Amino acid sequence: MRRYEKYAYWSVIIRTPLIDRYVLDYASRGYGAVINIGAGLDTRPYRLPLTRDMHWIEIDFPGIVDFKNEKLAGKAPHCKLERIGLDLSDHAKRKKLFDELNAKVGPAIILTEGVIPYLDETAVGSLARDIYDQPNFELWISEYYSPEIYPRFQARKFKDSLGDSSFRFFPSDWFAFFEDRGWTQKEIRYLYDEAAGHGRKFPLPRWVSLLKFVFGERRIAARVRRLTAYVVFEKTG
Ligand SMILES: C[S@@+](CC[C@H](N)C(=O)[O-])C[C@H]1O[C@@H](n2cnc3c(N)ncnc32)[C@H](O)[C@@H]1O
Repeated sequence: MRRYEKYAYWSVIIRTPLIDRYVLDYASRGYGAVINIGAGLDTRPYRLPLTRDMHWIEIDFPGIVDFKNEKLAGKAPHCKLERIGLDLSDHAKRKKLFDELNAKVGPAIILTEGVIPYLDETAVGSLARDIYDQPNFELWISEYYSPEIYPRFQARKFKDSLGDSSFRFFPSDWFAFFEDRGWTQKEIRYLYDEAAGHGRKFPLPRWVSLLKFVFGERRIAARVRRLTAYVVFEKTG
């Protein structure tokens, strides 16, 4: 397996329980709705011990939603689940949908897991504003990548018969980008720490692992630890 694939599999595996815990923690603090934007084939409403009154809304392309509905027909989610098919790049329709959802949920958590790295800065900025504009969309769980890791992603283009799945979001300062659009970091959890709890270490290139003999394991770990995380954003002020 190629190094990049190793990293990609590792990060998807590790982010899953990390986000599970975020959702359960914030649900226990009174957040009664989750709006999963670009939900893909996520199955948290079936897996997590959610209460019956939790309102879980998934949005993805209509084709993905149809496929998922077909595959999960007959399975019972633990909470109130709604699936909506929409091309989120249609700005007018997205805004209308967000207005409708805002009117029917209470304090909600927005989840964009594995979505924003594929969008460019203009698209992420516009999405950040649209989420911000909805008063009930209070928290937003999303990725964090340190600019130190950008060159690894920029060095590769992922194009195949299904399309181009290269990363496109490389703001010069990740947190300043969101601050400028009204979002402040409330909490951050690093994949490195989550992985340690599962006995699945960050898959370092061999040459980086060897640097521990020069600089010491602690210094290398401190540097690697901050490369990637999931953040809970809240609205500033
Ligand atoms: C990398 S997948 C992540 C899926 C899921 N959140 C997860 O972590 O497993 C990105 C998802 O975003 C959806 N997506 C991308 N662009 C979209 C758009 N314009 N409208 C609706 N969904 C979109 C894709 O269909 C896909 O399911």
